[in-house]
Amino acid sequence: MRTRDLLLPLLLAPALASAQAQNPLAIPPALDLDTFELVVDEHIHQFYPGVNTATYGASAEYLGPTLIMHRGDTARVRVQNELAQITNMHWHGLQVPGEFDGGPPREIAPGDSWTATYHVKNPAGTYWYHPHPHELTAEQANKGIAGFIIVQDSAEGALPLPRTYGVDDFPVVVQDRRFLPNGNFVFGPYGDSVLVNGTPRPYLECPAQVVRLRLLNGSNARIYPLGFEDGRSFSVIASDGGLLNAPVNMDRIWLSNGERAEILVDLTGMEGDSLMLMSYGSELPQTMPGANNILWEGSILNGIDFPVLRIRVTPPTAAPITSIPATLVPVLPYDEASATRTRTKVLAGTGMVGMGMFTINGLMFDLNVINDTVLLGSTEIWEIENSSNMAHPFHIHGGSFYILTRDGMPPPAWELGAKDVVLVDAGASARVIMRFDDLTEGWPFMYHCHNLLHEDNMMMAQYIVVDGATYAPSGTAAPQPSVFPSPTSSTLTYTTDFAVQDISVLDVHGRTVLRVRGSGGTQGQVDLSTLTPGPYVLSLHGANASARMTVVRDER
Ligand code: C2O
Ligand code: CU
Ligand code: CU
Repeated sequence: MRTRDLLLPLLLAPALASAQAQNPLAIPPALDLDTFELVVDEHIHQFYPGVNTATYGASAEYLGPTLIMHRGDTARVRVQNELAQITNMHWHGLQVPGEFDGGPPREIAPGDSWTATYHVKNPAGTYWYHPHPHELTAEQANKGIAGFIIVQDSAEGALPLPRTYGVDDFPVVVQDRRFLPNGNFVFGPYGDSVLVNGTPRPYLECPAQVVRLRLLNGSNARIYPLGFEDGRSFSVIASDGGLLNAPVNMDRIWLSNGERAEILVDLTGMEGDSLMLMSYGSELPQTMPGANNILWEGSILNGIDFPVLRIRVTPPTAAPITSIPATLVPVLPYDEASATRTRTKVLAGTGMVGMGMFTINGLMFDLNVINDTVLLGSTEIWEIENSSNMAHPFHIHGGSFYILTRDGMPPPAWELGAKDVVLVDAGASARVIMRFDDLTEGWPFMYHCHNLLHEDNMMMAQYIVVDGATYAPSGTAAPQPSVFPSPTSSTLTYTTDFAVQDISVLDVHGRTVLRVRGSGGTQGQVDLSTLTPGPYVLSLHGANASARMTVVRDER
């Protein structure tokens, strides 16, 4: 195939010979622990023998370990920042309280650490972690900070599915990177080398039986229409947020940034054979990053079909899975009638893949603006309309949603499971339904375009989840900072672990409605009596620390 010759990283002249060689696919170690430790640091990694590339990694030179979590358990992840800049860590797809979501408000300063503790509520599935610091997400992810989270549960465990990690169950994160002649990455929307789990030109030895691939698009912006070179079909068993009702037979699956799909491939009887997982970029319309759109940034991979991963089939294992179950787990989307509110999110603007002035409902991201307030326990329909010039993968923090319709029609079968990213093409729309079961308590959830460059270019907004009726500060999680009482009609008392110099109170639109001096100590009072009843964000500032939490001014 001609296109394959184009794949050599042209700038890497000294490594050309070795770039031609195929490399065994790296499989990140899987950790099954009560407390995980991720040390985010700078590294040098050789993607090509003898060529040094400056990278970031999470307890690894590039990418990070796979974290195995169990539904119903409490997971603890300690993140240590050894970078020279701020970072943080987000558990993409996991339904955790705002406090532990690791979005932009949660910064980990260089040298500091942060421990996220949360109940694992999501069903068995493939999730992932990546940093999410304000305006630095794309760069830090591009340099290599990301990893898989595999959630296990008893429903999945009862099914006859391949689940021996690295034997018949494999993580497969697809990324494109561009290398400079000196070996370092060029940061940008597109790369011209495909890396799978950080391996260029990878091959994977798979036993001649049913194997499971956990596919993740971990690229900055490129969209991959994935399929096999021989046109064979495969069974999609899970989308972003866990298993489907039943396997869906497909010969192509499009994955946009942040999206996951678990697929089963039947290699029975194929011992000694090989097959190629391809990206059929020639099928992308001009509105999708990865197409050869002359108005946008260029890349030799744009608009062409290229190999992603070669599978070499080895002898079967001792106890192989040889058939694909007819049904999986019941998927129970929320009833449309239970939705109490519909919000419309219009994606607008024009720009290129790596930049642009893209807005959500006319606004660009502002850390000090709360764009939406959602009631705890409520179910809402979010209608995403794309009036911009390109497709955007729309992602919502705080859990999973279900796609009700695309352009008024039911979505394809594989999109009927739980999702947290929905790719919405230019001129298209999608209606999703989501339930909000976790409080944000001053740590808002984001929703944004998961093209990482758009996200950092402020194509993002944030929402809070409040229990307006019975809101009370939680005494269960981190004791500091806290407020009491809330709701209040007059004065509340705050307690922090730093000296508060300055206090502002923001309304749900992010406008500062009150600004007062702090006590200068770790405890003080704020009078809310002048405010109209409703939820607010209390923002406490000290010399080198700050804290935010939701407070409610009630009616009396
Ligand atoms: Cu994968 Cu807001 O993130
Ligand atoms: Cu996320
Ligand atoms: Cu976008």
